[in-house]
This record gives sequence, C-alpha cells and structure tokens, in this order.
Amino acid sequence: MKIKLMIHAGVIIVIFFLMISCSRKQTVIPLTELDLSKMEQGYGRPHIDLSVTNNPLSIAGKTFATGVGTHASSRIDIDLGRKPARFTAFTGIDDAALNRRGSVNFVISGDDKTLWESGTMSPGDAAKHVDIELNKVKILSLIVRDAGDGIDYDHADWAEASFTTTEKIKATGPREVITEPKIILTPKPGIQPRINGAKIFGVRPGSAFLFTIPATGEKPLKYEVLNLPEGLVCNAATGQITGVIKEPGDYLATFRVTNKSGSAERQFKIVCGSELALTPHMGWNSWYVWENHVTDSIMRKAAAAMVSSGMIDHGYMYVNIDDCWSIKQTSKDSSLLGEPRDKNGMINSNKRFPDMKSMTDYIHSLGLKAGIYTSPGPRTCAGHVAAYQFEENDIQRFVEWGFDFLKYDWCTYNRIAMNDSLSELQKPYILISEILKKQNRDIVLNLCQYGLGDVWKWGKSVGGNSWRTAGDLGGSFEGIGTALFRDGFDVFTDNELQKYGGPGGWNDPDYLLIGYLSNWEGGTAPSPLTPNEQYTQISLWCLQAAPLIFSGDITRLDDFTLSLLTNDEVIEVDQDPLGKPGSRIIKNGDLEIWMKKMEDGSSAIGLFNRGNKEIKMNVNWSDLGISGKQKVRDLWRQKDLGTYKEKFSSRVARHGVEMIRVWPAK
Ligand code: GLA
Repeated sequence: MKIKLMIHAGVIIVIFFLMISCSRKQTVIPLTELDLSKMEQGYGRPHIDLSVTNNPLSIAGKTFATGVGTHASSRIDIDLGRKPARFTAFTGIDDAALNRRGSVNFVISGDDKTLWESGTMSPGDAAKHVDIELNKVKILSLIVRDAGDGIDYDHADWAEASFTTTEKIKATGPREVITEPKIILTPKPGIQPRINGAKIFGVRPGSAFLFTIPATGEKPLKYEVLNLPEGLVCNAATGQITGVIKEPGDYLATFRVTNKSGSAERQFKIVCGSELALTPHMGWNSWYVWENHVTDSIMRKAAAAMVSSGMIDHGYMYVNIDDCWSIKQTSKDSSLLGEPRDKNGMINSNKRFPDMKSMTDYIHSLGLKAGIYTSPGPRTCAGHVAAYQFEENDIQRFVEWGFDFLKYDWCTYNRIAMNDSLSELQKPYILISEILKKQNRDIVLNLCQYGLGDVWKWGKSVGGNSWRTAGDLGGSFEGIGTALFRDGFDVFTDNELQKYGGPGGWNDPDYLLIGYLSNWEGGTAPSPLTPNEQYTQISLWCLQAAPLIFSGDITRLDDFTLSLLTNDEVIEVDQDPLGKPGSRIIKNGDLEIWMKKMEDGSSAIGLFNRGNKEIKMNVNWSDLGISGKQKVRDLWRQKDLGTYKEKFSSRVARHGVEMIRVWPAK
C-alpha cells in the first residue's frame, strides 16, 4: 500500500514538471536585446538596427529593419546554458562598403567548435541566411573574421538576427573584469650617470643630424663625445648632437656623461650611408589618445612631457602627429575647413596647426624628432585631405616643415588600386619612398597597411622602415586585450615574422596601449589591459624588436605607466644593435617561451602565461638550444637571480610574463 502511494506521488510529480516545462513558451529574443557592450570589434561599436557607420542595414540592395551592424574582427559570446535554441539571421557586408575592398567570413561556433560558416563574403554579395538548431551548447559565439585582406571596410551585418528559446539567455564578455594591483618592478634610476637607448644610429650623408644622448643620473649632467665624426658637435649641457656628416662610413664614437657622483661611458656607432632606423623607433603618437582632436598645442605639450617625464633619457625620440592635421572638406567644424592646398598645390594644415614649421622647430629644440601622417589615397582614414596625385608636393612640404618621420596609411587607396595584386599593393609605397630618397632630409617611413599582401615579405624592399603587421590594435577599446594576444602573439608566430624584421625595417604590431587612452566617446579612460597584460605588451614588443611608440596621454603619466615605459634593461632587448627579432620557441597550451638572441651572445627570454591562472613555468636550457650553466638576470626587477645549471622556473601571473636574460656562466 505504502509503495503504491509513493509510485502515485512520483508519477504526479513527474507529470507536474512535464506540464511546467511544456507550458514554458518559446520566445523570440532579437540579438539587439542582448547586452551588445559585450561585443568586441575591430573598429567602431556595434549599432542596433544600423550599420557600423550608422546607415540603415542593407545587404546587396536589400534593406533590413532590424539587426546589428558590426565590423571585423568581431565577436560576441552568448550563454545558452546548454538548453535547446534556434538562431536565425541574414549575414553579409553592408552596402555602405559597396565597391570597397572589404571581405569577411561569418562564423558561428558552439563551445569553440565551428557550427556554421558563411565563407568569404564581399561587398555586393547577397545576404546568406543562417538557421541553426542548437542543442547542448553552453557558449555560442557569433564571430566575424577578416577574410585575409585586412579589416578595411569589413562592415558586417547580422540582419534580423534572433534566438528562439524557452530559456533566458545572456551575452557574456569574452573578457571578465579582472582587478590586479599595479606593482612597479622597475627600480628608480640611480644618481650615478647611466647611458641608455640605442647604441647605433643611421644617417644619410649631407642630411641634418640630430641625436640626443639618453642618460639618467642626478642632474646636472655633462655630456661629451669622444671621436665625434667631422661635421658634428655635441652640446655639453643638453647632450644634443647636431650637424652634418658629409662622408659616408662607419664612425665609432664614445659617449661620456658625468655628474658630481661619477661618470659613464659607452660606445656609439654612427653609420653614415643609405639606411635609417637601425634600431626600432621609440616615441609617441597622438592617435589613441587624441584621435581627431589633435592640435599644435597638444603636440608641443607632448614633446615637453617627453622631456619632463624623463622618457627622453631612456631613448624616446619621435613625437608624431597622426591623422587629422590637414583639411577635412566635409567637416562641420570650421577649424578643419579651408583650402586643401595653396595655388601651387602645396598641402595646407588646418587651423588647429597654424604653423607647422614653428611646431617642429620647437620639437627639435628639445632634442626630439617630429613625425607626420598621411595616406596614398585622396583621403586619410578619418576623411582628411591626403596625398593622392600630390605625392611630390606633399613630401616637399613635409621637408619644408621639418618632419623626420612619415606614417603612410592605405586608406582610400583601395578606390585607386586596380586590383588586389602585389604590384598594386606596393605601388604607392614605391612611389613615396622614391620621392623620400631624393630629399635632403632623413625621413623614416612607416607603412600602415595592416599586413596586406604579407607586407613583411616586401616592406623593406619598397623602402619601408617599418610596417604594420595587423589591423588597429586599439580599434575597439574593449577589444584591446583580445587584440593584444591575437595580433601580438599569433599574427607574429603564424607568419614567422622573426624572419623579416631587422635593422632598417621592423615589424610593427602597433602602439603601446597603456596609460590613459581615448574611449572614442570624447573622453579618455585608463587602458583596459590589466597590469600583467601591460607587462606582457612591453615585454613581447621588446622581444620582437618592435617599435616602442606609446600612444596614451603622455602628459598624464602615473608612476606605474612611466615605470613600464622606462625600464632600461627591458628597452635594451628591443634596441639591441644585432636587431634580430626573437620568436616563440616553445608552446605548451597557454604557456609560451620566447627568446631573442642579443649581440653580446646572451639571450633574452620571456615566459608568458596566456592562461587564466597563475602557474609555475619551467624552461630547460636544452629546449632553447643553450648549454651549460647560465647566469640569470630578472630584467624587470633589474636583479641577478643566480646561476642555473639546466633550467629555470618561475611563477607567472595570469596573462603575465617573467622576463630574464641569460649569459653563459664562467
Ligand atoms: C588607421 C591607422 C591608425 C590611425 C588611423 C587614423 O586606422 O591604422 O593607426 O592612423 O588610421 O585615421
């Protein structure tokens, strides 16, 4: 009897639950109703019912009233809780990018397994419909990848995108919020003089020479150079070396810096020939903090801050304006309007830059160099007047204005290029570097075309002194962390970029995105990188021999940010005269060991932990091709750790790094 009653009760309970679950209604949840702030993307922000550039959603002439406009590389993760659901959408490139060079691949993955792919889609391709049943998927990812030609014009629409499910679903950020203390490892410079920065410098015969000896130590410092080549002088109070060398050749000089506590000496090689940028560029660029509101006064303050912060004493040299200094004819802001060029076709700056020559004179007077930006197309990426068909004039103008560095983009040249062939990709850079070579001024050339056509294979041969290897690292503020790991680690390794960088031509994975950055909404915000990720960026860039161009607010440097930018032993890895980029030697899941060979026979080694938990990492000398006892020095802490026979171990923080340098022990 008792058992019978229990069975009855059980059956009733089961029926009750079945009824509840059957009665749960299927609802349609549009993608636009999820928290789109969790969507990461390579440019701009996700827009509801509009394209990334704020136009009505439209794919191949068909308009869609609802959906999300995004931009490659884009990703949003949605927690489906392993419950059944259905996802439907129309995918395609928005017509705002019609006749442009965009191409993308929409990918839907469930718990990291690909469930659906659109294949390469180009502007004008009819929307592809996706309709998939999802079962037992915990995290569904909607991804838009660039289809191999960079992210330019990759305006991607998830039109009429929605889920049908009985459950509650929510977007989860690919990145959780992590709070870590900002621990300063870099010791403060001592009072004794120390000479820092590059040990080699290239100049062309007959060009104006400017190099400021970077040195720390209690001020005042007295600067001298022994064996200075004929034509140059050194200012004893500022350390600025100026003049002109007429005769090509290698000149070995000795820097000597003295103060009341002592003196330091170091050899310095001046190579007077055809090559510039014998070590990776070090400096500051306006883009990621001031973007389209950069002015003359901002640039002057940045230059002054490079001196007052002491960055100049560690080798930082270039103060570079990015986009937005020329006229923008479509602007509503009168300070950007005016005649694009004078009657001789010479380009004009906008009213925010009333006197370029006096600005560069000021930058030079501080012992620094000045950089400018333009694009080979008719317009820059931000829609300002650019160089197309005025290349000779514009370079002549930059020479008159006194610039020392040119960042040459790709934007809007895709309207001009006839096709995707290598020769079309190379044409504007060959043209500009031929013009630069004719000038009686040394201008370092940075190619900013996002890695198109494997630029690393030919960037140097077309005259580039560095070339961007990927899209904008900071294209989306929230996405900087993801981009750091993708562009910083994987683009480099996948393409074996160590084979291509070297003296005169460097791989450029974009700027150092630490300190205060633009939040792209008119204000600034602290870098979204965690403190350990910031150590990772600087360490990785130095191991790769990448340019060290800081693009946060240089007038607002907190102690932590300054300590990251000014560790001389870490910078030495970047600036090593051998100029051999390091590479990944070992990968074990999330753990990577990178190594860079140094001129003195030592090796710089980075132990990187890409995983989410602190972990103990081991490195065996034999795996690195090193044998015998090694003297190990911790570079961030600038501390000897002792002698290690066969291997070295260290705990490495989540997304963090331990950076050491090893020398064969006597
Ligand atoms: C491109 C470049 C950026 C910056 C902007 C300016 O996106 O990659 O570094 O120069 O243009 O508009």
